[in-house]
Amino acid sequence: MRAVVVKKPGPPEVLQVKEIDEPLLRRDTVLARVHATALNRADLLQRRGLYAPPPGVRGDILGLEFAGVVEKTGAGTSRFKPGDRVMGLIPGEAYAEKASVPETLLMPVPDRLNLLEAAALPETFITAYDALRQLEFQTGEMLLIHAVASGVGLAGVQLAKSQGATVCGTSRSLYKLLKCKDIGLDVGIQVPPEDFESFIRDHTSGKGVPAILDLVVGTYWNQSLRSLSPRGRLILVGLLGGSKAETPLDLVLQKRLRIIGTSLRTRSLQEKSVLVRDFTRDILPLFETGKLRPVIDRVLPIEQAGEAHALMESNQNFGKIILNF
Ligand SMILES: NC(=O)c1ccc[n+]([C@@H]2O[C@H](COP(=O)([O-])OP(=O)(O)OC[C@H]3O[C@@H](n4cnc5c(N)ncnc54)[C@H](OP(=O)(O)O)[C@@H]3O)[C@@H](O)[C@H]2O)c1
Repeated sequence: MRAVVVKKPGPPEVLQVKEIDEPLLRRDTVLARVHATALNRADLLQRRGLYAPPPGVRGDILGLEFAGVVEKTGAGTSRFKPGDRVMGLIPGEAYAEKASVPETLLMPVPDRLNLLEAAALPETFITAYDALRQLEFQTGEMLLIHAVASGVGLAGVQLAKSQGATVCGTSRSLYKLLKCKDIGLDVGIQVPPEDFESFIRDHTSGKGVPAILDLVVGTYWNQSLRSLSPRGRLILVGLLGGSKAETPLDLVLQKRLRIIGTSLRTRSLQEKSVLVRDFTRDILPLFETGKLRPVIDRVLPIEQAGEAHALMESNQNFGKIILNF
């Protein structure tokens, strides 16, 4: 089968399409023909040798999600049959023509979506769903999302709006913020030149925002903590602006803030399976009705995986970049 392989850690040009052996069907797995996969920031780090995959996963084949069609099923599985359209959240190796995946990490593709759209769904939507759950986000609350025009940010806007939230978001691009309005963003804050702390203060009569979904950290950190209302919650999902920041702990203490860190990839199969089960139950029906939709920047053939990585590294994409087999 064909796969995109990292020849050696380095720039996008190290990605090459090669023939490799098919993964083995096991008792507890489903073998799927991958129609499409989608890029994630973790792929960029792993390509450079800066993000080791979990044990048992090949480091030279990237990819955390896919959509395709079931070819064979393991003797110990029961949920899917050959020909079913599936999408999956997997710990790696999705940039390949076939994937052998525990059935508990697979979801049926909603009828309304084609397989390219389905490939854009698992990682960002499950990340945002899980983040809002951990934030104990309440119906009708206000949410601030940093890097709102990212894949995770766009999923977060849609999920929070489906709970009746008012959603504010930051981006460095006015163009992207305008596009975010089309998917439901209430208030876009371009940073710089705007200072989101005073913006939030003015828009909340000085009270602050109760919840932040943070994909940036870096230089935003102190402003974020000051922008939270008393007993506010912040979940740290990405570190796009850098992982080092000094924390005014007196503020955390006095305002009784809650700061939560999260990572999907490092979780056990059991934890991920529960998350996929709950997401399938709570959120997939909203794709059937059209209330939620994956946002796709573009679809490229797998031979252009290097170009796709360069595009994401230059921050030009608005939504998911799909690789099609
Ligand atoms: N914890 C987890 O389990 C988990 C799971 C999935 C993703 N993530 C993380 O979530 C983040 C978003 O991933 P994604 O795939 O959704 O990204 P994406 O679609 O590629 O979007 C990233 C956006 O972030 C903004 N950005 C980049 N560098 C920035 C900086 N230095 N300061 C401020 N904004 C910056 C850019 O938007 P603008 O040009 O608009 O500023 C860029 O388009 C990544 O850090 C990723 O690793 C974490």
